[in-house]
Amino acid sequence: MRENLIQIAYIAAAVLFILGLKSMSSPRTARRGIIWAGVGMLVATAITFATPEMGNFVWMTLALIIGGAVAYVAARRVAMTDMPQMVAIYNGMGGGAAALIAAVEFMRPETMPTSFAVLGIIGALIGSVSFSGSMIAFAKLQGIIKKSFLFPGQNALNLLVLAGAVALAVVVALQHTGNMGGNESLTLIAFFVLSLLYGVLMTLPIGGADMPVVISLYNALTGLAVGLEGYVLGNGALIIAGIVVGAAGTLLTQMMAKAMNRSIGNVLFAGFGAKGGEELAGIEGTMKESSPDDAAVTLAFAQKVIIVPGYGMAVAQAQHKVWELAKLLGDRGIQVKFAIHPVAGRMPGHMNVLLAEAGVPYDMIYDLDEINGEFPTADAAIVIGANDVVNPAAREKGSPIYGMPILDVDKARQAFVIKRGRGAGFAGIENALFYEDNTRMVYGDAQDVAGKLIAGVKKV
Ligand code: TAP
Repeated sequence: MRENLIQIAYIAAAVLFILGLKSMSSPRTARRGIIWAGVGMLVATAITFATPEMGNFVWMTLALIIGGAVAYVAARRVAMTDMPQMVAIYNGMGGGAAALIAAVEFMRPETMPTSFAVLGIIGALIGSVSFSGSMIAFAKLQGIIKKSFLFPGQNALNLLVLAGAVALAVVVALQHTGNMGGNESLTLIAFFVLSLLYGVLMTLPIGGADMPVVISLYNALTGLAVGLEGYVLGNGALIIAGIVVGAAGTLLTQMMAKAMNRSIGNVLFAGFGAKGGEELAGIEGTMKESSPDDAAVTLAFAQKVIIVPGYGMAVAQAQHKVWELAKLLGDRGIQVKFAIHPVAGRMPGHMNVLLAEAGVPYDMIYDLDEINGEFPTADAAIVIGANDVVNPAAREKGSPIYGMPILDVDKARQAFVIKRGRGAGFAGIENALFYEDNTRMVYGDAQDVAGKLIAGVKKV
């Protein structure tokens, strides 16, 4: 009876995870999705206490209180722009937890069925890589590690370390199916050291611009590791949650790589962006500056304006002012649309979340494919803190971002680019748009300039 109740609770938790994830796919239902998934996690955690033979209740409660308190405070404090780091940490913890479950299972003296040993050790390997890799990703995004470490033969060394970890994994698995003797705990420790090392070595050479993709990949790996350990523990909720996270993470990784026109292999092994500051050959012209007042006059007399937000809008927290400007233009009968590139900002949906927070209606927000044809008919495009996602260099062969789909801002009759200075975008390359004849640079903090544009339009 008790066992049945526990299984029913786990299935209910798994159903809540799936429904929650489904709801997260639309900005309208995303909040509800988060709540459902959270309730699912609560049910799964609570029912664990009722599991037969479960002990250590004091430790479990203590871990829940400390972990819950740290997560609550951190989540409330974290800035939207730092969200990828936070995802990296939490995701890494998931991978680490899966690896620890495996460690505990392998430290038991009893032999295991072969399938348990094989799946358990694969989960431990993936979980460890995901843990250490995510910690490096966190340190890079947080600016704790500022350099990317590139040296000749790096991929070969990484492969060697991975091969060592896999070889030790085979030994550990065989020992636990009763086929081998030997010093078990030493082998296990060596296995974990090499697995953790591989995560570090694999992540160090990857450039900061690719970190969100890497984090998403580790997220998928964590899901897989959790699912595998769920199998070892015979826990249905863990298996389903792991598979759901693994599948969602894999799809997200693929979508991000596709939006940058890169393969996942290129992201992981090419050291893209790690070299930093690349000059773009053949840029002609100069950057031409405009005051916010002059830009406001053009905007006030336009019929159609497209606003392109990017990472700088998030840094400046300018979304409320930008929406105020859009409303003001709308009140003057001007058609205003927001154009969102799939990798604008630093995480998927970053711009959508910010604009939704400011109250921008969803029907004013357009994806790249929907809006790109409209730039030639726009009197003005306002690029607010975006850079790489509007760089026409992506159309030039030989450019590091060649082939990345971009928003065709250069095709608008007039483009205004709001940024603080001449700094390059995340990919570290010059932007050809800034040198175009029909582009005017409006220098300043995005929130500040948006405020001045509002004041300027009101004066016209
Ligand atoms: P970026 O290329 O990063 O450019 C942001 C621009 O904002 C910079 O040129 C910066 O110029 C400006 N800026 C910074 N702070 C500002 C402020 N307070 N006020 C005004 N401007 C400010 O941004 P993007 O166009 O959104 O492109 C995103 C990049 O991230 C792409 O390279 C993309 O591949 C990468 N990436 C994104 C994702 C996801 S999922 N979003 C995943 C992987 C990689 P100044 O310093 O001169 O102000």
